[in-house]
This record gives sequence, structure tokens and C-alpha cells, in this order.
Amino acid sequence: MQHNLKELRKEYSMAMLDELHTNADPILQFKKWFQEAMDAQIIEPYAMTISTVNSAHRPSSRVVLLRDVSEEGFSFYTNYLSRKGQDLAVNPFAAVNFFWPDLERQVRIEGKIVPLEAGISDAYFASRPRGSQIGAWSSPQSEIIDSRKVLEDAVENYIHQFEGKDVDRPQHWGGYCLIPDYIEFWQGRESRLHDRICYFQHSDGSWVRSRLAP
Ligand SMILES: Cc1cc2nc3c(=O)[nH]c(=O)nc-3n(C[C@H](O)[C@H](O)[C@H](O)COP(=O)(O)O)c2cc1C
Repeated sequence: MQHNLKELRKEYSMAMLDELHTNADPILQFKKWFQEAMDAQIIEPYAMTISTVNSAHRPSSRVVLLRDVSEEGFSFYTNYLSRKGQDLAVNPFAAVNFFWPDLERQVRIEGKIVPLEAGISDAYFASRPRGSQIGAWSSPQSEIIDSRKVLEDAVENYIHQFEGKDVDRPQHWGGYCLIPDYIEFWQGRESRLHDRICYFQHSDGSWVRSRLAP
């Protein structure tokens, strides 16, 4: 490797974050930051790393695309039989991370994941490009396959199967919603003295805002 990783560092000085300038509702605060990420033309600011934990307590992380945010939570779509789907079947708790480097911001979200209602997944699936719909049928996500050809043959097969018809949603493919009980907003500051404003949810549903040491 050409670079000495220990010497690579960046000072963060773009902005500050304090208790007074954050919304009391963390979902509204997320929407504000998300809009700012869109305005800053960050590439795919809706790409988020989600970590799940399997039955042997081993975590694993991967990127998925955020497809909806509401007061209920954060939604994404995937294969229910995938590694993440299997993890979530035994342990519904997950953690999500957004890193928006151009804004020197990170958002961390934790909570419980529930599958979306079938009708919501149907509607989203119907809105996807046909190639992605065929892909959902063709890919046994997370399984070992012998070669790329296995995938290409499956695609050919499903193109033929659905010729002249709408592609319906496979039962093994659909959405999940992360219902948050912890959301943290991180703004990089000078000398690593970053701002961290976090929200914990009480059992009555109300949110408590606190500052964490960086
Ligand atoms: C930018 C980006 C977006 C992705 N979006 C999704 C997605 O929305 N849903 C999905 O299932 N996988 C998505 N993936 C692929 C996942 O990262 C991962 O490879 C796949 O879901 C299998 O993960 P698993 O084996 O841990 O279940 C995306 C990957 C990248 C890099």
C-alpha cells in the first residue's frame, strides 16, 4: 500500500450542532439533515450501512438503500431469505449508519425491525424497473452459486416465464422497517471535539435529547 494510513487525517470544521438547533423530534431532525445531504449533492445519501446479529451473536454489516422515512421508522427492501433476513428472523434488532463525508456528518440509528405489510412491498415492487423485478426472482441472495452463468440462466428463465405478463413480487422479497429507539446526529468539529446529539426513546414513546462526549 502506497499510503501511510497513520498519517492520513482531516480536520472537521464545517459546522456545529447543539441542543438548541436540533428538532425535538429526531425524525424531523433526520429529514432536515437528509434534505441538506441531497442539497449538497452527496452521492446516494440514502445508502446506509445496516448491521444485524445472527443466532451466534456475530454481527455483520452491509449497505442497503433507504426507501422511506416516516414517524414509524426507516424502510428498506431486500430478500427475506438472505443472510440479513435470516439474522433478523432470529434477532430483530439492528443498527444503521449513514456517513455523509461532504457534510462531515454521521447518523446512527438503532431499533427493532419489522417486515413491512405485504401491500406496501407489493406497491414498491411494482414501481421497480422490470430488470430489477426479474433480478429479485433470479438471485438467491447470499447463497453460494457456482458461477455468474447460474444467475444469467436464471434471469433468462424468468424473462421467459414472465413474458407478456406483469412480474409479481416473490414472497421471499420485500420490505423491512427499522423502528428506532435511539438516533444520534454527529457533526465533526475541530481537534476531534465533535458534537454528538442523541435521542433515546422512553417507553411512553417520548424522546429525550442528550449530548454525548465525542
Ligand atoms: C450502494 C449499495 C446499495 C445497496 N442496496 C441494497 C438494497 O437496497 N437491498 C439489498 O438487499 N441489498 C443492497 N445492496 C447489496 C447489499 O450490500 C448486500 O450485498 C446484499 O443485500 C446481501 O447482504 P447479506 O448477504 O448480508 O444479506 C446494496 C449495496 C450497495 C453497495
